[in-house]
Amino acid sequence: MTADLDAYWMPYTANRQFKKAPRLLTKASGMHFWNDEGRQILDGVAGLWCVNAGHARPRIVQAIAEQAAEMDYAPPFQMGHPKAFELARRVADLAPGDMNKVFFTNSGSEAVETALKMALAYHRVRGEGQRTRLIGRERGYHGVNFGGMSVGGIVGNRKMFGTMLSGVDHIRHTHDLGANAFSVGQPAHGAELADDLERLCALHDPSTIAAVIVEPVAGSTGVLIPPQGYLQRLREICDRHGILLIFDEVITGFGRTGNPFAAQTFGVTPDLMSCAKGLTNGAVPMGAVIARQHVYDAFMQGPEQAIEFAHGYTYSAHPLACAAGLATLDTYEEEGLLTRAGELQSYFAESLHSLKDAPHVIDVRNIGLVGGIELTPRPGAPTARAFDVFLDCYAAGVMVRTTGDTVALSPPLIISREQIDQIVSTLRNAISRVA
Ligand SMILES: Cc1ncc(COP(=O)(O)O)c(C=O)c1O
Repeated sequence: MTADLDAYWMPYTANRQFKKAPRLLTKASGMHFWNDEGRQILDGVAGLWCVNAGHARPRIVQAIAEQAAEMDYAPPFQMGHPKAFELARRVADLAPGDMNKVFFTNSGSEAVETALKMALAYHRVRGEGQRTRLIGRERGYHGVNFGGMSVGGIVGNRKMFGTMLSGVDHIRHTHDLGANAFSVGQPAHGAELADDLERLCALHDPSTIAAVIVEPVAGSTGVLIPPQGYLQRLREICDRHGILLIFDEVITGFGRTGNPFAAQTFGVTPDLMSCAKGLTNGAVPMGAVIARQHVYDAFMQGPEQAIEFAHGYTYSAHPLACAAGLATLDTYEEEGLLTRAGELQSYFAESLHSLKDAPHVIDVRNIGLVGGIELTPRPGAPTARAFDVFLDCYAAGVMVRTTGDTVALSPPLIISREQIDQIVSTLRNAISRVA
C-alpha cells in the first residue's frame, strides 16, 4: 500500500503520516462521500468549502459531459466561446451594485493574483502609477502564489518562502477572544481595528497604496467573523484615500453566508472581488475576479486594437468550467441555495453553540453556514488536539476540517437539520473523547 501511495506528493498534507494511515475517498453523492472501504462519510465542509450544492449533481455532471463531447477547449486570447460570455453575465447579475465585469481564472489563488495585478494596473492607467503598495491583514489567507502569500498573514504559509513581494504591509487581524468569545453571528467589538489602515496610511502616505485585500469572513485562519461595522469602516477609509478595496470571496462567494456574496450580507461593496470554489460547485477548477464598472472603464481608454490588460491563463474560461458554472448557477437558483444559509443559520448557530460546555472549547463562531469551534491547544503541541478531533469524527463518519486548533464547518448548502445534528453530536463525542 505504502509503495502505491509513494509517488504523489500531497498538498497541505503530512505526507508520511497520511501514507501510513491513508484516508481515501472514492465516491461522492449529495451530502456524502464514501471511502475505499465503502464507508459513508457525511461532508461537513463541502469538500473544501466548494461543493455548495452537494456532490455529483446530475445537471452539473451532464453539462460537463456534454461540453467535453461538443467542444473540449477553445483558446481564450483574442477568441471567445458563447458560454464564457453567458457565465460572466450570470455571475455579474449575482454580484452587488455595479460589479459587472468578470475575468476568469482557474483557482482562488489565481483570482487573487489577478485582482492584485488589476489593482496595480488600474492606478497606472489612471496616471497614479506611484500607488504600488498592497495591504493585507494578519491571519489572512489569499492562496499560495507569491502575491496572495505576500498579502496573506498566516506565518506557516510565509516563513519558508523568502522575502516575497516588496511593498506589502498588513493591518491587524480582528480575532479577540477576550472581548468576543462565543458571539453569535458578528461580534460586537472591534470595528475600530479597521482604523489600523489609517496607521499604515500615515506611515506610507495613502498616495502610495494601491489596494487593501481582506476576506470578509476569514476561513482558513480559523473562521474569523468581521466585527459589526468593521467592513463599513474599512470601506470608508479606502474611499477617503482613493485606495481600492478587494474582498477575497473565495470561500464566502456563492451562498455561504446567506446571500450570493458576503458583500451583500454585510452591506459593503468592494471594488474588486475574487471568487472560485462554489462558482462551479468544485466540479471543474475555476476562479474569477469581479470588477466594478469604473475599474473596467479605466482600462478601456487607449487605442482600440491594444490589449488593455496583459494578463490571462491558457485555461481562462475553459469550456468545461463554463458549462459546469452555468449548470451550477442553475442548480443554485432552482433550489434557492444562495439564500438557504440565511434560512438555516439560526438552527445551525444554536446547534453549534450547544458545544460551548464541551471540554477544551474556548470559542464558537458562526455566520450563515460557516462555523468555527476553537479548542485550547495541547501544551507544547499546538494543532494536535483539533487534528485528533478531525480523525475521531472521520472514524465516526463525519468529515470536518481543522486549521490550527479550530474545527471549521462549511457544509453543502443542501444540508438538512438532522444532518446538522449529526455533525454536532459527532463533534461533541469527538471533543469529549480527545484528551
Ligand atoms: C479566501 C481564500 N482565498 C484564496 C484561496 C485559494 O484558492 P485555491 O486553493 O483555489 O487556489 C482560498 C482557498 O481556500 C481561500 O480560502
